[in-house]
Amino acid sequence: MTDHRAERPVVRTHAEAVAVAQDPDTYSSRVSRFLQVPNGMDGAEHAAMRRLLAPFLSPARMAALRPALERTAAGLLDPLADGTALDAVGDLGSHYAVRAQSAWLGWSPGLEDELIAWMAANHEATRSGELARTREVAERFDRIIAAIIAARREPGAAHDLTWELVHTRDEDGRTLPDPVLVSILRNWTGGDLGSLALCAGVVVGWLVADGSRQDEWRGLDDASLDAAIDEVLRIDDPFTSNRRVTTREVRVAGRDVPAGTQLVIDWTRANRDPAVFGDPDRYDPAGNADRNLVYGTGPHACPGRSLATLELRVLTRALLSRFRLESGGRGVRALFPLGGWESLPVVLRAPRPAAHPPRAAR
Ligand code: HEM
Repeated sequence: MTDHRAERPVVRTHAEAVAVAQDPDTYSSRVSRFLQVPNGMDGAEHAAMRRLLAPFLSPARMAALRPALERTAAGLLDPLADGTALDAVGDLGSHYAVRAQSAWLGWSPGLEDELIAWMAANHEATRSGELARTREVAERFDRIIAAIIAARREPGAAHDLTWELVHTRDEDGRTLPDPVLVSILRNWTGGDLGSLALCAGVVVGWLVADGSRQDEWRGLDDASLDAAIDEVLRIDDPFTSNRRVTTREVRVAGRDVPAGTQLVIDWTRANRDPAVFGDPDRYDPAGNADRNLVYGTGPHACPGRSLATLELRVLTRALLSRFRLESGGRGVRALFPLGGWESLPVVLRAPRPAAHPPRAAR
């Protein structure tokens, strides 16, 4: 496969990734000729859009969503018996990602098959690096979203989160035009369904590699489990990179480049920079938390972090409370520009009976 980034400077060290991501005046996010809200915006316009969209991912909204996510995870896992073999990414992560995101957005469960098929096509198009394929897949997704938006404008439509977005008014009191709504919903789902499925694979991969980790994680409170998951994603970050474009002549990634140069922030490498983490595989959730770049840094840092964190915690707890996870064989690594596992066979086992059952149970 061709590395389409080969000619572009690639920022690989932690220090430079932070410097670039935190300097939007020199490194603009306007990298695409397509509308990308808020990803492709800069400055005041970007900040205003982030403010407008923040309430959709607020702590209160996340707290209210949690029971629905727990039901989502239960719906997937409760039918599975001792000995079930499955692919942690394709069978578990993808379906959970779609159902969880739909629960947040208020989308019909009937869309699941269409969204799963779309994720697979998107995955293939991303890997191929072919512009025509990528565009075709993007247009397919836009058609799905256009229908979802149209339904929210029908009289009597349920007031779900997508309805609220469609009827949101900006600081000038105007509703958002359709292309903006489509772009927002694309960014909230398109890429992130895939990211979440890959994150689920990385977490399960970590747990099956050493069964004692499962016992340890079962005993963690929410904050510690979130930190543990973040650390595992730092070690094997599946959200590999983002682009920027220079607004002036600058020295970056060891090169002097003119204004208008596209460059890549390689989050995966920055998250494993030995100058910062020593041995990048050393698991230290508390020690590495404030240097973790899985969700980026600076004004474009992931606004979906609270949602992704909740979704992953709920899935991990649901798995560990029902099963012991065993490896089901060799996994297949995802190919650049994706990271983590493309597929990871895992076997679900009934939990071992406690070595010392509580007195009442003897
Ligand atoms: C599943 C794990 C996820 C990972 C690892 C992840 C990672 C990231 C990273 C590294 C960035 C920074 C981009 C940059 O600096 O250019 C980002 C931005 C973004 N993420 Fe996430 N993300 C995840 C999930 C989500 C979810 C669930 C949502 C939606 C609800 C979301 C929505 C976004 C948006 C809209 C941006 C662009 C923000 C901006 O440009 O201001 N992400 N994400």
